[in-house]
Amino acid sequence: MGKSQPQLQIAYELFTDFADLDIQDQELVQQARQALGKAYAPYSNFWVGASLLLANQQIVQGCNQENLAYPSGLCAERVALFSAGVLYPAQPILKLAVIARHAHQPNDVPGCPCGACRQVMVEFEQKQQQPYEVIFLTAAGFVKLSQAAHLLPFVFQADLGNKG
Ligand code: THU
Repeated sequence: MGKSQPQLQIAYELFTDFADLDIQDQELVQQARQALGKAYAPYSNFWVGASLLLANQQIVQGCNQENLAYPSGLCAERVALFSAGVLYPAQPILKLAVIARHAHQPNDVPGCPCGACRQVMVEFEQKQQQPYEVIFLTAAGFVKLSQAAHLLPFVFQADLGNKG
C-alpha cells in the first residue's frame, strides 16, 4: 500500500581512451570497426559496426543495412545478433562491441545502441540465461556495461501464454 519513489542506478566502466581498454576488448572494438567498413548506409551516411565474442571464441560481425524503403533496414547490432542466432545458436555471447563513423571520415564517433536494439539485446541475454558485456563509444569515452539488461530498465516482457 502507498507510494514510494525508487531510483535506478546503472553501474558502468568508463575508459577515456581506446588504449585504456584491455587487449581483448580492444580486439573486439577493432572487429566492430572493421565491420563498419562493410555498412550499407547510402541514405544516412552513418556507418555502424558491431562485433560479438562468443563462448567458442568465434567473432560475429554486423553492420547497418539500409534500404530505400527506410524502415526495412536494420541496425548493426541486430544484424550481428541475428547472424549469431543462425550461425551459432548454441554459443553464448560473452561481449558485444559497437562502433560508429560518418562515411569517409577517419574517426570514430559516439554511437549508443538504439532502443529497438536494446530490446533485442536483452532478449538474447534472457535466452542464453547469462549476461554479456556491452561496449560502445560515448562523448566521454568507451562505456562498458556488465550486462545488456542495464541498458533497458523496464524492458518489455509479456506472458503470451504460449503452451509450446
Ligand atoms: N544504427 C545502427 O546501426 N545502430 C544503432 O544503434 C543506431 C543506428 C544505424 C541505423 C541507420 O542505418 C543509421 O545508423 C542512421 O540511423
